[in-house]
Amino acid sequence: MQTVAIIGSGQMGTGIAQTVAQHGMKVMLADIDLSRAEAGKAAIDAALGKLVGRSKMEADEAVALLGRITPVGEYAPMEKANLIIEAATEREEIKQGIFESAGKVLADDAIMASNTSSIPITRMANYSPDAERFIGLHFFNPVPVMGLIEVIPGLATAQETTDRTSAFAEALGKQVVLSQDEPGFVVNRILLPMINEAIFVLGQSTAGIEDIDKGCQLGLNHPMGPLQLADFVGLDTCLDIIRVLYKTTRDTKYRPAPLLVKYVEAGWMGRKTGRGFYDYSGDAPVPTR
Ligand code: 3HC
Repeated sequence: MQTVAIIGSGQMGTGIAQTVAQHGMKVMLADIDLSRAEAGKAAIDAALGKLVGRSKMEADEAVALLGRITPVGEYAPMEKANLIIEAATEREEIKQGIFESAGKVLADDAIMASNTSSIPITRMANYSPDAERFIGLHFFNPVPVMGLIEVIPGLATAQETTDRTSAFAEALGKQVVLSQDEPGFVVNRILLPMINEAIFVLGQSTAGIEDIDKGCQLGLNHPMGPLQLADFVGLDTCLDIIRVLYKTTRDTKYRPAPLLVKYVEAGWMGRKTGRGFYDYSGDAPVPTR
């Protein structure tokens, strides 16, 4: 893979762009307009600045990496991409619009991938020009740090597409887990019920925010407790994923915790809005309940 186009310049899209460029490939970064894509590149610049400041990266390496990332305001230049990765909001109608538009410029031998965390790949393949070259490529946050990528072939995905996509993931220094196209794939199917259950535990006042997180950090050796992790992932994203699990399986074990719904309705989405289960306005996060 020489040139990779990434559509979506939020937390995941910028993390993917940084990682791809770090491995010597060219990146086109797009969002709903050029200014959003440029803001995404600026966020990567800031993340690299921190790494350089902590002597984790040489300054000239950071400059070269950034030089490989080009923000774009339209899909036309993506005709040169070997791989287009969609990393937009977890809403099927938004993704559908992206696949239909970017599909018009997809090169004949290029692959189109979705970083969806839970929407069925087989269904979304219908929005792309060629279901044989459509696949799920699920990254984990923070992308430059996490060692895993899930690769999810849909029913119509060609074996060659799966092989090329897995080779791309390995070229990023990640390990691959191959998942069947089932709701939540492997990791989110396990993670989201845990986060959702932690919110039920909080809602029923079984324990407070800090104790729930401390319990999982110390009792299970998780790097973050489930409520911290929910804030990190984004409470809106958590709700979107658990809703997809609930809708697609109709299994009540995936019903969203009422407190999660309330927080999202309040606009408390976690770190990105400055407030979720913790308040991030000060130097250190403070539990809100
Ligand atoms: N680029 C490169 N390196 C980065 C980075 C970035 N943007 N951000 C952090 N790092 C590096 C740091 O330099 C540091 O490197 P070092 O170990 O060599 O010093 C390392 O990552 C750890 O960073 P920090 O010291 O700043 O912070 P912590 O030690 O507290 O670790 C964490 C932070 C890695 C986020 C850790 O808390 C963690 O692993 N949390 C769990 C994350 C997790 O579960 N992610 C999956 C979420 S689910 C998902 O993404 C799927 C989706 O579909 C919902």
